[in-house]
Amino acid sequence: MIKKPNEKIIRYSASVRINHWLMVIFFLFTAISGLGFFFPSLNWLMNILGTPQLARVLHPLLGAVMFVLFVGMFVRYFKHNFIEKQDIVWAKNIGKILKNEEAGDVGQYNLGQKGVFWLAAVCLFLLLVSGIIIWRPYFADYFPIPIIRLALLLHSVAAIGLIMTIIIHVYAAIWVKGSIRAMVEGWVTRAWAKKHHPRWYREIVEREKPRQEKSG
Ligand code: HEM
Repeated sequence: MIKKPNEKIIRYSASVRINHWLMVIFFLFTAISGLGFFFPSLNWLMNILGTPQLARVLHPLLGAVMFVLFVGMFVRYFKHNFIEKQDIVWAKNIGKILKNEEAGDVGQYNLGQKGVFWLAAVCLFLLLVSGIIIWRPYFADYFPIPIIRLALLLHSVAAIGLIMTIIIHVYAAIWVKGSIRAMVEGWVTRAWAKKHHPRWYREIVEREKPRQEKSG
């Protein structure tokens, strides 16, 4: 039993939220302009960055900034995204999860969120490395043509991978009511935490104990 189920607890600090939403803005601009480069029928999407010429100049720069912003989140959150025993319980009960029920003693993130985290990290890393190799006029001249061709292929595959990963991420964020508010306003209710992330909630309660003991 939770004494005050509607009481707010902090899930994300203001700096994490600003970092996350800046990353979203940079993601949208790079993904949309990138799709514009890739498909001739979508060339008009390049205009999201002003003109096609500007898009060509800005796309790599915005992509590099997105990578740096992701590193900011990666450093803070990678320790909460290691796969553990309880994640297997979650995965075995995927049928329940799809019915909006909960399974496993989930910590700060469930296996689905952890998967998104690592997929995004791998795709962004591949995008950065391949992006540098194909970045004209600064770096591409240092690489032979076959490597540039390979990097172009890798860049496209990693971009599609990241876009699909983020579509799943957004779908899950909408699916679990209360998550978007956590990333917008920073807080969740005790009931939300206990329902979706019981082990994380217990950790919060543990951290609160010394404070309560002092005041009580
Ligand atoms: C419109 C697009 C997006 C929406 C609506 C969205 C929403 C959210 C929400 C609600 C959370 C909190 C989940 C929770 O605490 O349970 C979250 C966490 C997170 N988001 Fe997003 N997000 C979006 C785009 C992105 C993009 C583009 C990236 C990276 C390229 C990203 C990376 C992350 C990461 C790393 C976390 C922390 C989760 C973890 O460490 O496993 N998000 N997002």
